[in-house]
Amino acid sequence: MILSAYSPRNLLIIGFAVMIWSGCQHDPVTPSDPTPEVDPEGPELCDPDTMYYDDHILPILERRDCIACHTASNNLGGVVLTSYDELIQSDIVDVNDPNSSELIRVVTTNDPDEKMPPAPDTPLNEQEVNTLRTWIGQGALNIACTSEECDVSDVSFSSDVEPIIQNRCESCHRGAAPQGGVLLDSYSSIAQYARNGRLWGAINHDTGFEPMPPGGPDEKLSDCELLTIKQWITEDAPQN
Ligand code: HEC
Ligand code: HEC
Repeated sequence: MILSAYSPRNLLIIGFAVMIWSGCQHDPVTPSDPTPEVDPEGPELCDPDTMYYDDHILPILERRDCIACHTASNNLGGVVLTSYDELIQSDIVDVNDPNSSELIRVVTTNDPDEKMPPAPDTPLNEQEVNTLRTWIGQGALNIACTSEECDVSDVSFSSDVEPIIQNRCESCHRGAAPQGGVLLDSYSSIAQYARNGRLWGAINHDTGFEPMPPGGPDEKLSDCELLTIKQWITEDAPQN
């Protein structure tokens, strides 16, 4: 029951952690407790041969104003490009035949009536077209990666976790009247929220939690900060 909350690729680590910690565990976590889990669509380290939607495709669509024109309200040519799901639903990629995909056709055609982005905007360069084509051929997946070096092999509370909380959370979560009644100003208060699952739920923007820090996706912690905190929680939030 406990393990069902975890994705298979985390089972090994969790199993190992449970073996180590079972000696000093008392109350088992109840199934309803939110527990950290690896987001199956969460960031991975970048594979140089893979094209990632978040990191390679979305920037092209933003840079070339595809998204600015193809909003849900404009619905130009029946194509909406403001999100991955809408792109797929617009039926412009054929993973079995990237070259005949509508998405590739409109950025490579010489027909001025069809060409995207429309003149006088600059056409996509060869590298951008190849990026789109490769991504489609690899299955047009909704994946993200992180290129930053993120070493979580030796995470410590005082040098890795606490500075993140101090920079990004403490302004609202300290003092006599912390926001939401949540105090995050010491090891013991932070570890309490780490162990009851609310810290992870909030920073990972899981459904059912207030996303933290507040203010939308732009305020979300970086992928590496999330991985760092997740690793620390997985190790049962030690005071190291
Ligand atoms: C200045 C606004 C504008 C920009 C920028 C723009 N489009 Fe379009 N797009 C349109 C309009 C208008 C149509 C509808 C054309 C029509 O129906 O004849 C269209 C149609 C399309 C279609 C459907 C074509 C068809 O034949 O059905 C696709 C696919 C498309 N755009 C993709 C893109 C991509 C990819 C980009 C960025 C590289 C992009 N568009 C940038 C305005 C834009
Ligand atoms: C700008 C102020 C602000 C910042 C910065 C902030 N919080 Fe919050 N936090 C709030 C408020 C306000 C609430 C209460 C939200 C509510 O219940 O509507 C809250 C609630 C929470 C909760 C309870 C959420 C739940 O659904 O259980 C947690 C946990 C939390 N914050 C953690 C954090 C962490 C961790 C950070 C830093 C990564 C952070 N907060 C940064 C204002 C802030």
